[in-house]
Amino acid sequence: KGCKLVGCGSATPTLKVSNDDLAKIVDTSDEWISVRTGIRNRRVLSGKDSLTTLAVEAARKALEMAQVDPDDVDLVLMCTSTPEDLFGSAPQIQKALGCKRNPLAYDITAACSGFVLGLVSAACHIRGGGFQNVLVIGADALSRYVDWTDRGTCILFGDAAGAVLVQDLLEYNFYKLFVSFGRASCPFNCRFYTLSFILEISALDATFAKLIQLFTLPATVKKMVYLVLTCIVMVMAKGTHLNATMKENEMDKALGSNGSVLGFPPRRSSYSCIQMNGKEVFRFAVRCVPQTIESSLEKAGLPGSSIDWLLLHQANQRILDAVATRLEVPPEQVISNLANYGNTSAASIPLALDEAVRSGKVKAGHTIAAAGFGAGLTWGSAIFRW
Ligand code: ACO
Repeated sequence: KGCKLVGCGSATPTLKVSNDDLAKIVDTSDEWISVRTGIRNRRVLSGKDSLTTLAVEAARKALEMAQVDPDDVDLVLMCTSTPEDLFGSAPQIQKALGCKRNPLAYDITAACSGFVLGLVSAACHIRGGGFQNVLVIGADALSRYVDWTDRGTCILFGDAAGAVLVQDLLEYNFYKLFVSFGRASCPFNCRFYTLSFILEISALDATFAKLIQLFTLPATVKKMVYLVLTCIVMVMAKGTHLNATMKENEMDKALGSNGSVLGFPPRRSSYSCIQMNGKEVFRFAVRCVPQTIESSLEKAGLPGSSIDWLLLHQANQRILDAVATRLEVPPEQVISNLANYGNTSAASIPLALDEAVRSGKVKAGHTIAAAGFGAGLTWGSAIFRW
């Protein structure tokens, strides 16, 4: 039983933070960041922006492209490691989209591999039967967890959301025949093209979990970091979402002492900042990503030469280049938007896909090799045809 990608969309916050902006708050330079990572700008959530709003906007665009009503969505998968609701953001997205049939909606947490895991889950649901239109959203706001005093990590991340609609095309169109006579043709010409999915999750290796993690700071250090972080980002983002950090700080003051007296376990806010061993993560990505793509291709019975586009999690341009060299994919077939957005975690693949589709780079019938990799450690790949 096959499934197809029939629409995509994306949304990014309005606040743009350049390398030069970051050079004002940490000891770095535009040259260092762009040479080592390929990143020049990133978008950061601020003001009234919320991750849920971005996710809804991206999902709406994907539905519009696919010409599918929110009412026809059977499942919403929100792939994120930074949900605004501890218990999951997918139900709120489903409600905001106005899905009247009240479809199943849940979150998937797998850091930068989240979106590929979401695709796999969507395909499994469709293949299992009973699901015809599955929205897969990748969205993250790692800016909320970045230590803005750590030049080794704060230069890397940005916030964004991307979405695709995965469809059981045969069954859905059969059903549509009975309820209507269809709609105008899709402007992106993707609706009627067959697409086959070959998905693989390579592995999950927790022995390396400490290479990227949220770490716990001693209370005094934590308070100092909150203070510095709040000042910096309030200046940069004009009094924005890190107001929440200030509130957390106040909450800490209010609850922290009681908690420790009563011996409560660490509170949510003890997860302060992202800590990463960049060099080891780099080595892991360059080793594992080509392997997983090669085995996905083998499973699909496709030669490497059949790849039209290499669409990797946008972590670092040097990782993209190294993986492409290993797979013998020429640079002009590597999709990259790192320069504008940095590493947007679970959003990076659908965001880059959406830009490539809307700019006309990715055309109907093209074969795309996608791979996600990141904290966990997790990694996985999917070969699909647009
Ligand atoms: N500006 C200037 N100098 C810097 C900066 C900076 N922003 N960051 C580090 N440096 C310095 C270091 O202090 C070090 O100085 P020293 O030699 O005096 O000690 C020097 O530059 C080299 O530092 P390295 O960490 O060795 O730099 P490296 O070349 O490894 O680049 C980087 C660091 C960009 C983080 C790289 O390792 C990388 O991109 N790794 C992959 C990260 C990644 O892809 N993560 C994806 C997963 S994220 C997730 O899943 C949530």
